[in-house]
Amino acid sequence: MNITVIGAGYVGLITAACFADLGNEVLCIEKRESTVNKLQKGESHIYEQGLTEILQKNLEEGRIRFTTNMEEAVKFSEVIFICVGTPQSDDGKADLSQVEEASRQIAEHLNGYKLIVEKSTVPVNTHQWVKKTIKRHAHEDAQFDVASNPEFLREGTGIYDFMNPDRIVVGAESDRAQVIFEELYAPFTKEGRPLLFTKPAAAELIKHASNSFLAMKISYINMISSLCEKVGVDVNTVAQGIGLDHRIGENFLNAGIGYGGSCFPKDVQAFIKIAEDHGLEFGLLKETEKINAFQKRSFLDKIEDILWINKDKNITVWGLAFKPETDDIREAPAIEITQELEKNGANLHLYDPEASDNFKNILAESDNVKYFEDKYDALKDADALLIITEWQEFKLADLKKVKELMRLPIIIDGRNIFGVDEMKEFEYYSVGR
Ligand code: UDX
Repeated sequence: MNITVIGAGYVGLITAACFADLGNEVLCIEKRESTVNKLQKGESHIYEQGLTEILQKNLEEGRIRFTTNMEEAVKFSEVIFICVGTPQSDDGKADLSQVEEASRQIAEHLNGYKLIVEKSTVPVNTHQWVKKTIKRHAHEDAQFDVASNPEFLREGTGIYDFMNPDRIVVGAESDRAQVIFEELYAPFTKEGRPLLFTKPAAAELIKHASNSFLAMKISYINMISSLCEKVGVDVNTVAQGIGLDHRIGENFLNAGIGYGGSCFPKDVQAFIKIAEDHGLEFGLLKETEKINAFQKRSFLDKIEDILWINKDKNITVWGLAFKPETDDIREAPAIEITQELEKNGANLHLYDPEASDNFKNILAESDNVKYFEDKYDALKDADALLIITEWQEFKLADLKKVKELMRLPIIIDGRNIFGVDEMKEFEYYSVGR
């Protein structure tokens, strides 16, 4: 099948590369010419496991191309995926200007029937605006459907998630659209993966409801972790004990310094606004946000309780990305934590396997902020080590070496990456244990 993907951001690029890998002919349109030039050479502008390989393979085999030309992109195929950004605006709502612009541009170049698919995360009933916009700008007898097919890709495992979906959600209104989706996703349905057809509004809602639920689950266990600290119980044991109930499930019950990233914080806030716009107060999600903010605050309090004075202390930070396997620092807990420590006059030694360059835009290198290329070099003469992101290489660290390098063997672990028992040689603190 020929497929057009609008936007070569995180979602667009993975969608384009994966559809090409499934045997489709894909044309991906992106505004920035420099990005298109890089991609056309097989160089990805985002760090994502396996993406460069899959991109290069499909470029070589001629199944994927990149362009800046909207007319060419619209005319290329019957199916057009809108994968543009929907950033948060100042009032917490999603800024849909890029979705509107894409809809207008599609309308101007329509040639024959098109299935226009929203993949970007959008508020419920956005499809109606897309439809209205296309109708306004297209010729009178234009034939098209607008559908919603939200993505559930996690950064770092986006390719895996695309190729191994728990479910595919499609909100479509016509049989014609449904048949196209059935063909498009046949490689997955043949493996028995569920393809759920519903109305576009329900599909849009499913995406926000899904992400908000996961964020709520994290805040729930984080709240339990605070209680655990007060009563002397290990939160991991509680997570295991409740997670073994299939109705609850074991995933997303890792207590820590809270969720970050480009999705959960933005989607929770947008969902609260959507409810508000319909006269409903989503107190449950407001509390989810509150607990998430509290996790960072209480981690900072913990540092102060342990170190007493931060000023002039050598504090090493392992992990700046909002989670492992990504260089993304959007809403990363490391931002608030390092900024506050810098304000307090600490000497920060920062290390992250991928995210340091991005982080330098938040916290510039200075006399008391230093970035390191090696996690052990960052530890020399440290008064404390903070673990903010659960990278695998931290879990596998040589703890004997860690102790030798540090001035004081104090570790404050915001992600519970070590077992309490294996840390007896250290003054070791974690979350909810
Ligand atoms: C999320 C959703 O998982 C994905 O389906 C959606 O399409 C996009 O948003 P992502 O933001 O990439 O994906 O990361 P995810 O792995 O879900 O983690 C989000 C945040 O929650 C991270 O900061 C992570 O550290 C935190 N987290 C996750 C916890 O604190 N505890 C957990 O148990 C799980």
